[in-house]
Parts: sequence; structure tokens; C-alpha cells
Amino acid sequence: MGIGGSDMYRQQILDHYKNPRNYGEIEDATVTHVGENPMCGDTIEMDIVLDDDEDTIERVAFRGDGCAISQASASMLSERLAGMSVEELQGMDRDDITEMLGVDISPMRVKCAVLAEKVAQDGVEIYFGEKDTDKTTTED
Ligand code: FES
Repeated sequence: MGIGGSDMYRQQILDHYKNPRNYGEIEDATVTHVGENPMCGDTIEMDIVLDDDEDTIERVAFRGDGCAISQASASMLSERLAGMSVEELQGMDRDDITEMLGVDISPMRVKCAVLAEKVAQDGVEIYFGEKDTDKTTTED
């Protein structure tokens, strides 16, 4: 899989890859956004439901196609985002994602790891009119 780290974390990644959490669609989501890693064509699409005040994330669903790291990262992130404030999401960076995954990731694969995070962040930014793009890419 091209990743180092302890067996426990590798197992966790494989588990999320094989049994992705929150996989699917949410009808009438507040935010829906898609992204791609152009190096490989792997994609993640996310639906995010915000609370009435639009400052807290209530629920997230995703679907996608791609490598174990990109899909496991989306699955784990979907769990973490529920209950998180929009501000916290916007403050996340790649260190938070590598910490969440718990494995050493080569610079090439970091793009796989952060795809879901970028999709979620861009989706929310677009919703609030802070950004304008149809599709997120890991090259941005
Ligand atoms: Fe495509 Fe990982 S190889 S996102």
C-alpha cells in the first residue's frame, strides 16, 4: 500500500477502506462537492449537512473511487466531521490528516490522504461564497 507505520493503524485504514463509514448520499445536503487527484483520477464526492445556524457540521456522507488511503481518509474524516464546527474544519491541515491516519505517508501519497479534507473545506468555502470552483483538485 506504500505506507509505513504500525500494524494497528494499517489495519484501521484497511478496515475503513473495505467498510467505509457514512458511504452514500444525503438528499438535501447543505453542501455537495467533488474533488479529484489528477495524478490518478481518484475521486471523492461529499455531502455535508450544516445545522440551522450554519456553524456546525451535523452529518457527512461521501462516495468515491480510489486507493485505500484516499477512501479510508474520507471515511475517517466523515466520522470526525460530525459535530465539528465549520471553523474547526477550515483550520484543519495535512498534519491533522496524517495524524488521523496514524501512518507515515510518502509525499506522493499525501495527496491521496488530503483529498477528502480539501473537498470538505472547498465545499464549505464555496457554499459561503469564499471560493469559486466546480471541482477541487489536490494540485490546488
Ligand atoms: Fe489516487 Fe491515492 S492513488 S488518490
